[in-house]
Amino acid sequence: MTVLCTLADLEPTGAKGITLADKREIVVVETPAGPRAYLNSCPHNQVTLEILPDRFLNAERSELVCTAHGARFLIGTGYCVLGPCAGRSLNSIPIRLEGETIVLG
Ligand code: FES
Repeated sequence: MTVLCTLADLEPTGAKGITLADKREIVVVETPAGPRAYLNSCPHNQVTLEILPDRFLNAERSELVCTAHGARFLIGTGYCVLGPCAGRSLNSIPIRLEGETIVLG
């Protein structure tokens, strides 16, 4: 079992960047339907979305924002609704909750 973080870890900014053991970077994000995780790689230019640690979201915490060119992705699906990669999606990473802990798989 690979532990990613806890629900409490998401509270300060609504999302958390994590580097997996295989070096993939992912973002875990709080949504009304529970946590979701995506590969932290913008479909536009394959760069990480954030500049500042764990600062992924718009003010409403409804969209992940790519700081490079402003693409916006729905937190619940990773679907890009605005920007140069509109209509594409972040790659979803399977996670599950074990109590208050978020784990891979
Ligand atoms: S690299 Fe993300 S919008 Fe261009």
